[in-house]
Amino acid sequence: MAVFFNDHFVANENALLHVSDLSMQRGYAIFDFCRTKNWRPLFLNDHLDRFYASAAAMHLATRYNKEELTAIIYELIERTLLDEAGIRILLTGGYSVDGYQPASPNLIITCNAVKTASLADFENGITAMTYEHQRELPSVKTINYMMAVWLQPLLKEKKVNDVLYHHKEIITEFPRSNVFIVTKDQRLLTPSRHMLRGITRKQVLSLAAKQMDVEERDIRTEELLQAAEVFLTSTTKKIMPVAAIDGNIIGDGKPGVITRKLYNEFLQLEQQGGQ
Ligand code: PDD
Repeated sequence: MAVFFNDHFVANENALLHVSDLSMQRGYAIFDFCRTKNWRPLFLNDHLDRFYASAAAMHLATRYNKEELTAIIYELIERTLLDEAGIRILLTGGYSVDGYQPASPNLIITCNAVKTASLADFENGITAMTYEHQRELPSVKTINYMMAVWLQPLLKEKKVNDVLYHHKEIITEFPRSNVFIVTKDQRLLTPSRHMLRGITRKQVLSLAAKQMDVEERDIRTEELLQAAEVFLTSTTKKIMPVAAIDGNIIGDGKPGVITRKLYNEFLQLEQQGGQ
């Protein structure tokens, strides 16, 4: 398995980052993650735009422009011999002399097998609990998933699959996915701020805008629990129905009509190469 490390391809076992890197010393790094289908990265342009925006927001210099990075990613896909894979583009704070000051960023791009949600996963949906938390720098895709990882034992105890963050009763996002609700009068709502702008979210918004009223705005937890349908979106989960939240069944607990329609349309988009 090849890995692209700063300026060349190395074998997986040689892709070693020194302990002085600011990602290890202080958790300072950003990344982006996309998927390939039939040897092609899906929505790569959008993922790279977000990668550059995250890097700029964190004062991390990027050593390649978009065309160069695109060429590197295509070569990595060829070398990896996987028609479907997950590509992680990681940019760290670099080898810091005092473990605090940013240095020259390290760029690491990996291409590995990826597990995505199946049709059976879609039919089952997921259950979730709400939790009061606001991510730091929410519009940036940092490597900080500390709260999400820390919450894992609580999720097991509550027997739920995922957690939906809210801040002062305004919902924001799941740790790794965006949230949408369909109201009883068939409007599609999704939070407009204090969250990461997902690439799947963007695709779903444009599919939905062709057929229904769409609003990006603050959503209160009461509105969430009264929704006809709730679903989440992400690169690996695609569109996933949320069957219950905090023990309250959403709709009849099965994938809703709108959720299913958007899901089918999204799969078609993917099949067409998702450009
Ligand atoms: N998660 N919000 C956060 C905080 C995320 O980390 C992600 C992506 C999303 C959904 O974005 P997208 O549709 O572009 O995947 C929303 C990736 C998949 C992960 O960390 O595994």
